Amino acid sequence: MENSPRNTVRPYLITKKLVPENQETPIHFQNGDIVNEKLFFRRNHFHYPKFTSSFYLLPIEGFVYTPKVFSLQEIYSFPAKAIRLVLECSGNKRELFEPNVFGEQWGKGAMSQGIWKGVSLRSLLQYTGLLDTAKEIVFEGYDYGARSDSNQFHHFSRSLPIEKALDPDTILDYEYNHHPLPFKHGFPLRLIVPGWYAMASVKWIKKMIVIDQEFKGPFQAVDYVYYPNTENDHQKTLVTSIHVNSTIQSPLNMQTLNTGVYEINGIAWTGTGQITTVEISMDEGLTWHTCELVSSSEKYAWVRWKYIWDAHKKGEYTIKSKATDSFGNIQPLDPIWNRKGYGYNAIDSIKVKIE
Ligand code: MTE
Repeated sequence: MENSPRNTVRPYLITKKLVPENQETPIHFQNGDIVNEKLFFRRNHFHYPKFTSSFYLLPIEGFVYTPKVFSLQEIYSFPAKAIRLVLECSGNKRELFEPNVFGEQWGKGAMSQGIWKGVSLRSLLQYTGLLDTAKEIVFEGYDYGARSDSNQFHHFSRSLPIEKALDPDTILDYEYNHHPLPFKHGFPLRLIVPGWYAMASVKWIKKMIVIDQEFKGPFQAVDYVYYPNTENDHQKTLVTSIHVNSTIQSPLNMQTLNTGVYEINGIAWTGTGQITTVEISMDEGLTWHTCELVSSSEKYAWVRWKYIWDAHKKGEYTIKSKATDSFGNIQPLDPIWNRKGYGYNAIDSIKVKIE
């Protein structure tokens, strides 16, 4: 086996389910600015799909002027765009909701970050054109299976409104961290929708269909919907933008430390604008201190932050972190509970003991 640094990294993910494969990245591997592909979280609804990528073609059809089938060579020949970007599952931190909700009980690691490179979807749509009645674009994945609520088979399919599809930063991705996109993350082509929770970033795209109405597939109209009520579906809204959020990475929750001076650090991210401030509290949120932002605050990427803590007094402490973004969104004290447990972004909280 080739003895490159890429091969010496041992996979170490926290397994939630092996088939389909659902694993999260331990939070101490979310440090740095990019996550190695072997440590990237994995979220699948079905078995991995089987198809022959050497004959891969991408059809774009429906409400377009000129339906077209693109080969990979054609797609590679368009100007490419690379973006450092957080991919966060909308179920990240679901296990923290109280009362508990059904669904994969993700901790704080259903998210990772790296450099995604591909072609702006917009460039391909300029070739096909869009009819005036075009409303959404459906992306159908190669993977399929029966959902737990019915015997019917479905592909993993989702749509984007035309405006989001035409955002120059919405890309059809074929590289991750300067290497070909790994199969488990959608090779040969996956959608990357910056600023939105990762369910929108469809892997293994089989075809794209432009439609003139709202898409009602189950991964759009049943799942990935906020249901604020237990008894009925009133006031439901679709899951889209990533909520402002932060995670404390060091010290670890429940760690026991000697008295001394410690660096408290972590990450903060948002789907709206950039992170402007991260604050930390060591006294259950009574007083807050401003953290230093260690990495530069970029659109779509997490920012690393730190605070030097002089822990000279023995005792038990609750440490909390709170991020604010450039749209003025602030992490709330209490999570916004919803029946399927999406979008958890309450102030992060850990406990440590100083002895
Ligand atoms: N695309 C396909 N085709 N099938 C899937 O199951 N899962 C979605 C999204 N795209 C999914 C998909 C969800 S819910 C998430 S959180 C991300 O892919 C996970 O991406 P990753 O496995 O590359 O981390």
